[in-house]
Amino acid sequence: MFAKRMDSLKVSDIREILKITANPEVISFAGGLPAPELFPVEEMKQVAITVLDEAGAEALQYSTTEGFMPLRKQIAIRMKNKFDVDTTYENIQIISGSQQGLDLSGKLFIDEGDVVLCESPTYLAAISAFNAYGPRFIAVPTDDDGMIMEELEKIMENTPNIKLIYVIPDFQNPTGRTWSMERRKKFMSVINKYEIPVIEDNPYGELRFEGERLPALKTFDTKGLIIFFSTFSKIFCPGLRIGWIVADKKFLEKYVLVKQGTDLHTSTMSQREISKYIERYDLDANVEKIIQVYKGRRDIMLATMKREFPVSVKYTHPQGGLFLWVELPLYIKARELLLRCLEDNVAFVPGDSFFPNGGVENTLRLNYSNMSEERIIEGIKRLAKVIKEYN
Ligand SMILES: Cc1ncc(COP(=O)(O)O)c(C=O)c1O
Repeated sequence: MFAKRMDSLKVSDIREILKITANPEVISFAGGLPAPELFPVEEMKQVAITVLDEAGAEALQYSTTEGFMPLRKQIAIRMKNKFDVDTTYENIQIISGSQQGLDLSGKLFIDEGDVVLCESPTYLAAISAFNAYGPRFIAVPTDDDGMIMEELEKIMENTPNIKLIYVIPDFQNPTGRTWSMERRKKFMSVINKYEIPVIEDNPYGELRFEGERLPALKTFDTKGLIIFFSTFSKIFCPGLRIGWIVADKKFLEKYVLVKQGTDLHTSTMSQREISKYIERYDLDANVEKIIQVYKGRRDIMLATMKREFPVSVKYTHPQGGLFLWVELPLYIKARELLLRCLEDNVAFVPGDSFFPNGGVENTLRLNYSNMSEERIIEGIKRLAKVIKEYN
């Protein structure tokens, strides 16, 4: 009954785990949900009224595929201020969350059997989005400084048919790691040699708790190969479903074509609401509030892990973003651990979900943005207790 591509689509682990974690008793480190108490609900009520007062029916009408021009201009300014990227509204396409950008990219670039390179591990829902188009993934090894360039070069040299490279250089999902400056520069020199398009997915870059901001890959892009994605989901409200692409016109023209087939355009009302919010209120102040809260939660999570976890358990120390990555001793399988933890009402995502070709069963991802500090302490204590049962 169904198309062949459905054979390669599996139910997302996270979606399944999130169903269980809908129970308020469960302390969930599983999803990537922002803290809802930081959504500016009252301001958004006023914004909705203002948009309808000022624009009337136009705010409820169909609109252009490229997106609401004032919002594209506001994003161009943000790209300069927050990512050091010089661009104009003409190089910006509004999308319905960066997740849509991933699906559109699959449509645009991937024929069955084409090779997609990504980090090992990488964002689970990017794997799912691309999988619908039948690629062969090659996951490039990584370390604390990001993708390992010698490995990338070896793969690039020996693999025909590479169509697309997908990377998350800032506060990566799932590891929380950030690529060093050296890796960024080296990466650009490698891809400039092969001239393969790269998606730089950057939903978390603005959420830096400490340390120096590093320039986006896009800032080094002399050949127009980098297709940069970002989103209002993690710095504002994910439910509005607004993200954006910054890319050369040769790419954007094609994204417009495929987006027309997908949804004609992103919600007119949501685009106008975000634009009005940026005009009337202080988005940067909102982002600063988010940074302070998440930094506090990360600190508490790390401090509790240090106190409670056996020394054989290793984990990353992210300088921003929403996630950290845990490596258990080899004899502990994260899936088994999860089943045991769910009995104690604690949830996380087993790490093997983030490897497109499977593997690495002793890892897991923890999210710290969505639980209060008290619940983080309690949840990590429970997780530590179950881990210690293995000794
Ligand atoms: C790396 C990465 N890309 C894209 C997305 C999707 O974000 P959006 O809400 O903009 O669709 C997420 C969400 O968690 C993510 O972590």
